[in-house]
Amino acid sequence: MDDIAYTSVKKIGDREFEKLSRYIEAEVGIKLPPVKRTLLESRLQKRLKQLQIHSFSDYCDYVFDTEKGSMEIIEMIDAITTNKTDFMREPAHFEYMVHTALPELLKTRSEIHLWSAACSSGQEPYNLAMFMEEFIEKNRPINYDIVATDISKSSLEKAKKAIYYYKDIEIVTDSFKKKYFLKSRNPNSSEVRIKPVIRDKVTFRPINLMKDDYGHRSKFDIVFCRNVLIYFNKDNQADVIRRIMSHMNSGGYLFLGHSESLAGMRKELNSVGASIYRKE
Ligand SMILES: C[S@@+](CC[C@H](N)C(=O)[O-])C[C@H]1O[C@@H](n2cnc3c(N)ncnc32)[C@H](O)[C@@H]1O
Repeated sequence: MDDIAYTSVKKIGDREFEKLSRYIEAEVGIKLPPVKRTLLESRLQKRLKQLQIHSFSDYCDYVFDTEKGSMEIIEMIDAITTNKTDFMREPAHFEYMVHTALPELLKTRSEIHLWSAACSSGQEPYNLAMFMEEFIEKNRPINYDIVATDISKSSLEKAKKAIYYYKDIEIVTDSFKKKYFLKSRNPNSSEVRIKPVIRDKVTFRPINLMKDDYGHRSKFDIVFCRNVLIYFNKDNQADVIRRIMSHMNSGGYLFLGHSESLAGMRKELNSVGASIYRKE
């Protein structure tokens, strides 16, 4: 199949857009209003090409009417999720955690359980571990663990490898670079790896925030759920928050992305800072 003939058939029709966008919103929460049509089309084109499927209509038949198609949702999610993340993203949250949340929590407990919900390729949970280590170094030893979850299979695979590029850590302080990142033995490599002292603190697993059962065995004191609810409609946002809250200890802290808020939602979470909430 030559590329010119291939690309000429990959336009998404009204029916297919409607079907796929409804399915994606119901399964994953990500809303895809008509303005997102070109985005969906372009993000799924890679899948059509990989599967050698020549129209969105055939793709829908494959997804919805074949046995193999039920597995396609995993690949489809990978193609449509926005996984943008960074080290030191919204750093005021880490500052708040170290200077306010941890001292407050440690008045009533000796262990801290953290959850990075929608962790993408791992920068956020590894950053949490680095700040926990800093806190411990300056204060006292504490037991802590970090669970990091995401729906995207490829993001979780990348996160587990813990390998990043130098340019990804330009924003990180020299002290953090030295303490928490390993250089490659190859002097020409542009890659760095998170050190085991940090890697060992984080457990990755898949969780779809839209599903009722998250399967957590313990409750959390600190939850970072940043820059994911923004893709959901109000009802789905409220459902996710309700489920997250059911996995939080009372007095626990919830950090959302800076453009996300709980305005108009449940009151058992009190606003204590910019996109920071505390469970009663
Ligand atoms: C923009 S990234 C945010 C990453 C990180 N929290 C941050 O703030 O940098 C959004 C992440 O949400 C994940 N995501 C989208 N829908 C999800 C769902 N229903 N359940 C779990 N994760 C989801 C995506 O796979 C993506 O990795």
